[in-house]
Amino acid sequence: MEDIYPNLLSPFRIGNWKLKNKITMAPMTRGFADDKTGVVGDDVVEYYRKRAADGVGLIITEGIIISPRAKGTFNLSGLYTNEQVKGWRKVTDAVHEEYGTIIAQLWHVGRLTHHEVAAGLPPQAPSAIRAIGHVHRYGKPFDRPEEMTEEDIKETIKQYATAAHNAMQAGFDGVEVHGAHGYLIDQFNSEVSNHRTDEYGGHLAKRITFMKEVLQAVMSEAGDNNTIIRFSELKDDAPQYKWRDPETTIQTFTEAFKEVGIKIIHPSVHQFDKVLLRGQTFHEVVRKHWDSNIIGVGNLNPEMAETAIQNNVINLAAFGRPLLANPDFVTKLERGKPLEIYDSQKHLIKLT
Ligand SMILES: Cc1cc2nc3c(=O)[nH]c(=O)nc-3n(C[C@H](O)[C@H](O)[C@H](O)COP(=O)(O)O)c2cc1C
Repeated sequence: MEDIYPNLLSPFRIGNWKLKNKITMAPMTRGFADDKTGVVGDDVVEYYRKRAADGVGLIITEGIIISPRAKGTFNLSGLYTNEQVKGWRKVTDAVHEEYGTIIAQLWHVGRLTHHEVAAGLPPQAPSAIRAIGHVHRYGKPFDRPEEMTEEDIKETIKQYATAAHNAMQAGFDGVEVHGAHGYLIDQFNSEVSNHRTDEYGGHLAKRITFMKEVLQAVMSEAGDNNTIIRFSELKDDAPQYKWRDPETTIQTFTEAFKEVGIKIIHPSVHQFDKVLLRGQTFHEVVRKHWDSNIIGVGNLNPEMAETAIQNNVINLAAFGRPLLANPDFVTKLERGKPLEIYDSQKHLIKLT
């Protein structure tokens, strides 16, 4: 059925990655690692192996925490101990045996946690402003965070770099920095959670300094061609939040990405075809300011993805929930078979 989806199903090269097609597995936290050690087991190995064997072009892992204080709920995997690296090595070996490409999403939740979940210490954030809402799968309200000192910031950037180094040691083909959805990096980026008066706060171009420094540190470990940045207007703790001036915001972000030398960006939105501004979607506005690679995402279906790639709005198309419901997603598209509809009651409770 390459005839139906000639763009989506044809191979793609980025740097050293030779992707079988443009289908990308969106990063999805599953919570199946050992809660104490953050090590993944054979069930996680088989879960990713299956997607690679099916032929998914690029697999982006679940959010992987970079330190104990980066943890926002139970059973998250990490990339800061030797055992964690060994666990992930089994996953990358399995994916490579199937000729797949897999990158690790690096995650720090910042203030969206509770000290009882995150190493017994208060959450860290750009400012000491408590988020509204409750800790995922724990139910307690988010703790009031500690304002990070410049020392804490340097330390955290180092932890991102170490996690990127560990990811490459574990055999990953690269990393994605999770700069979206209201987590630590996005907390620095946003005027709601960042009230700092030093070089990490102020107007947007200054608030994104932390993100730029994280990217520089990560890219020096993982390589310029192997590093993706995910960013969004969307905040998991504030669904109603809107950028005041989306076009200028996007332009400020893309200029920063060009400055640091990023080659692949992953703008995240709930609904890919929703208009953001003057009849244009988020990804269409991003494309006006960005010539290099864009990953599209947000309740995409294969038809929408095919058209968006054909029209050069995006280069790769990420699917989340459809890939949970259909471990044989690519095969089904190739053979023109119907897809199973995602059902959280059925598809989230176990790894299939
Ligand atoms: C169970 C689940 C877990 C998710 N975990 C993450 C995550 O760890 N990191 C992230 O950036 N996005 C996460 N997301 C968002 C997805 O990457 C994706 O952007 C979203 O599901 C929209 O794509 P879809 O409509 O194809 O599912 C998660 C989504 C789901 C459904």
